[in-house]
Amino acid sequence: MLVTDLDPYHPDHLKNPYPFYGKLRELGPVTFLGERGIWLVARYENASYVLRNYRDFTSSLGVGFTRVPDHGYRYPLVDNDPPEHTRARRAVQGHFSRAAMTRLRPAIRDAATELVEAAMAVGDIEAVTTLAQPLPDLTIRLLTGIEPPDPDTMAAWGDAVGQLASADLDPLHAKLATDSLEWLAAEGVPALPEHCMGRAIMDLGGENGRLAEDGLERLMMLDSIWLAGIDSSGSLLANAINAFAEFPDQWDAVRARPELIPNAVEEVLRWDSPFRSFYRRTLAPTSIGGASIPADSDVCVIMAAANRDPDRFSDPDKFDITRPDAKAHLAFGASIHLCLGAPVARLETIEFLTALAGRVRRFERTGEAVRSPNQAVRKFCSLPIRLVPA
Ligand code: HEM
Repeated sequence: MLVTDLDPYHPDHLKNPYPFYGKLRELGPVTFLGERGIWLVARYENASYVLRNYRDFTSSLGVGFTRVPDHGYRYPLVDNDPPEHTRARRAVQGHFSRAAMTRLRPAIRDAATELVEAAMAVGDIEAVTTLAQPLPDLTIRLLTGIEPPDPDTMAAWGDAVGQLASADLDPLHAKLATDSLEWLAAEGVPALPEHCMGRAIMDLGGENGRLAEDGLERLMMLDSIWLAGIDSSGSLLANAINAFAEFPDQWDAVRARPELIPNAVEEVLRWDSPFRSFYRRTLAPTSIGGASIPADSDVCVIMAAANRDPDRFSDPDKFDITRPDAKAHLAFGASIHLCLGAPVARLETIEFLTALAGRVRRFERTGEAVRSPNQAVRKFCSLPIRLVPA
C-alpha cells in the first residue's frame, strides 16, 4: 500500500493544485492519505475506471468527503446507484435533451449579449460578479422556473452546496444549504409558474411520474438541479476568462475562428476543471490499477488531476483550444453519473464566449486574481479584468 502525506485540501495546493497533482500521479495508481483516511486516485486511466465501475464503487454513501448519512443530505441522482438512480434520471433527462437546449438557446444568447454589452460600457470590471455569476443565475431560472432571491443570497447558497463536499466542513455552509432547501420548499415552489421544469418535477414527479410522491425525493431533485448549476458554471466562465487573459494568442485564435469555440469550452473544462474531485465508496474489497483497496474505503477521484495526465493528454499543462481530444476530459464525470447539466453548461459557455469574441480584443489583468478557498470547486473570489474593445 502506497501511503502519502500529500493532502489535496492543504491551502497551498488549493491555490495552484497542478504541481501537487503531478506528484500524486507519479506516486502510483492510488495512494492512501492516512491523516484523512482517504484513497487518492489522480491518474486518468484509474480515475476513469473508478467512475465507470459503479458496481464496485458506490455513490449511495455520498460523493463528497463526508458520507451522506453524516451530513443528512441525499440527492436522488448523484447519491444513488442503479436501479434507483436509473429511475430518477429518466424522470428528468428529457429537460436536458438537444431539443430542450435549442429552445433555451435564444434566451441565453440574448442574456449573454446584454451582459457583455453592459460590461463593455464599464470596461474595467470584476469579472466574477459582472459576468461569470449572473449568467448561470439567469440560466437556472429559465431552466427550472425558480425565481430566486437576490444574487448575493444565490451566490452564498451555490457556494455552500459545493462546500458540502469539502473535507473541513464549516457548520455555516451546512446551515446555508439547509436555508436554501427550506426557502425552496416554503417560497420557491409555491411561486413556480405553470409549465416549467419545477412544476413538472413537483406536481407530476417528472416523466411518467417516476419520482416518489411522498417524502423528499421531488424536492431534493429540484434542489439538486437548481443549485448544481450555479457555482459550477460560474467557475467555468471565470476560469475561461482567466485562461484567455493568460494566453492572449488563444483568444486571438477564438476571434479569428469562432467555430473553435465549442472545443475551446472543452479545453477550459480540461485545463482548469471546476470540480476538483468526487468520491466513491467500496462495499467489498477491490483493486485499482493492481493495488488492493479494502471494503468500506473512501476513494477520492481527482478529475482535475486526471485531466492533466501526460499519459492521456500530450503536453497537458498547455492551454490549447485546438487540442483534438480535449473532450475526453473527466470534468463532467463519466458513465451513468455523467453531469446531467453538461448540455446547459456547454450552451451558456459557448454563448458567453461568442458574445465576448464579437466585442473584446483582449483581456488585461488590472489587479490580483483571488482564488476561493473552496475545497470542492476551483473558482475565483475576485477576477479584476479590463475588457479591451475590438
Ligand atoms: C461547468 C459546469 C458543471 C460541471 C463541471 C459539472 C460537473 C459534474 C460532475 C463531475 C458530475 C458527476 C458527479 C459524480 O460522478 O459523482 C455532475 C453531476 C451532476 N450535475 Fe453537473 N456540472 C456542471 C453543471 C451542471 C449544471 C448546469 C447542472 C444543472 C442544470 C448540473 C447538474 C448535475 C446533476 C443533477 C448531476 C448528477 C447526475 C447523476 O448523478 O446522474 N451540473 N456534474
